[in-house]
Formats: sequence, C-alpha cells, structure tokens
Amino acid sequence: MVRQPTILIIDSGIGGLSIYSEIKQLLPYARYLYFFDNRGFPYGEKSEQFITDRIISIVKAILKNHVLELIILACNTATIITLSLLRKMFFCSIIGVVPAIKLAVQLTNSGLIGLLATQLTVRHQYVLKLINKYACGCNFLFLGSSKLVKIAEDKKYGKMVKSSVLREILSPWLKLFQLPDTIILGCTHFVFLKYELKKLFPEGTQLVDSSKSIVGCVAQLMSNYINVGHFEVMRKNVIYFSLMTDRVRDFMPFLFSYGFCYLRIISI
Ligand code: DGL
Repeated sequence: MVRQPTILIIDSGIGGLSIYSEIKQLLPYARYLYFFDNRGFPYGEKSEQFITDRIISIVKAILKNHVLELIILACNTATIITLSLLRKMFFCSIIGVVPAIKLAVQLTNSGLIGLLATQLTVRHQYVLKLINKYACGCNFLFLGSSKLVKIAEDKKYGKMVKSSVLREILSPWLKLFQLPDTIILGCTHFVFLKYELKKLFPEGTQLVDSSKSIVGCVAQLMSNYINVGHFEVMRKNVIYFSLMTDRVRDFMPFLFSYGFCYLRIISI
C-alpha cells in the first residue's frame, strides 16, 4: 500500500490557498500542511535576507515533526528569492510558483504584457531573466504593489474591496494610451482579486496566473500518488500560523471549510 504523502505549502498569507485548492483537486487524499507566515506578512515589503531566513526557519520547524514528500512555495516572492538555496539545503522535492510569463507570451495579441506582482518580484533579476529567455519580442509593463496584497488578504478576512482604491493603485497603467492585453498576476494573492481587477480593464483583457503550471509540476513529481483513492493511514490536514491574532481566531471556520482540521501556532 502506498504511504499517504505529506505536502507542505508556504505563503505569507492567503495567496497560497489558490494553489492549494488546485492541487487538492489533483491529489485529494494527500495530507496538506499549510504555513501562513502571518508574522512575516507582507513579504513584498521585506528584505531578501528576511524572507530567506523565515522560509528556512519554517521548513526546519516543520521537518522536526514531519516527513515531507513535497514543499510548494505558493508565493512568487519567496520562490524567486529562496528556491535555489532551499534545493541545496533540503533533500525533499521543492517547487515554487513564478510569474506565468510563458503563458502570457502565448496568449498576447498586441505583445504588450503587464506584470502585476510585489515590488520585490517586479524588479528581481530572476524575473528579468525569464523575460529575456521566453518573451523576446514582447513589451512589458511592471507594477509592484503591497497595497494590493493587503487588499486581497483583507478581502479574505471579510473586508469589502473598493474599486476606487484599486483604480488608484492601477492608475499608472489605466492612464496609458495602450493598455496591456494580457496581465500576469505574479502574486498568488491577486488571484483572489481577479474579478475586481478584470472590471478595471477593457473587455477581453486576459488575466493569467501560475496555478495550472504548478499543478502540472505536481502531477509529474507525484505521479505515483495520483488516482490512489485511499491510503492505509489517513492523517488530517493542518494549518499553521506564525502568530496568533484575533483575526486568525475569527478566520478558523473559514479555514476548516478548506479542509483543514487543526490549527497550530509555530512562533518563528
Ligand atoms: N503571495 C505572495 C506572492 O505570491 C506575496 C505576498 C506578500 O507580499 O506577502 O508573491
């Protein structure tokens, strides 16, 4: 009988839930540990060293109690900064989301692509290298916003999204004569604002994210576990936070609706 695999998903907040939901459809019986690094939130405003230290501490803390088959950095910012180092430090499979540049290049008609992400992501060499490799011939607009990350996080915690605020954040693009016809949501949080963001742009503007491509990677790496309907020992999914707050307490019923059974705090 195949052992139930354990998959660790890490993000600074709710962004990774978009990735988790997709992967859970592929591997419904895997065991998921989701780490919300709410003490480190938002990563986009922090230094690379800060993010690296946090991600390493999180992985070490989880590995003290669990054997992991796969670690998913469900955060573009964390992937870009830490993925190669993590792969050198830890032996299990590690993957991470990066902005869906290849997909955007396939979809654009005008050749003008927008990258909406955190400030750290939009100016990072890693992203510029991806663009040089996969997107020559296309033009890019970059917009890094932490405000947008906070709005997405707040939305999940029940706060209304004001379109006037989104309009203000997106104004550097909205006032341009030519708008991008394809926009990469290069931060997992922004998937939760897709509906509101789409309304700001002309009809037909495509908003793309990396969830499908990460599912493709997981399908390859975890092919032994796909279509296994049941495992001998079925352990429950756990959600971790790095800081207990009132917000977290209020949020618990919502998290349980995502299929998590326990909430734990690991103070990192
Ligand atoms: N969700 C993360 C990403 O994809 C970052 C959000 C943050 O700034 O904490 O980049």
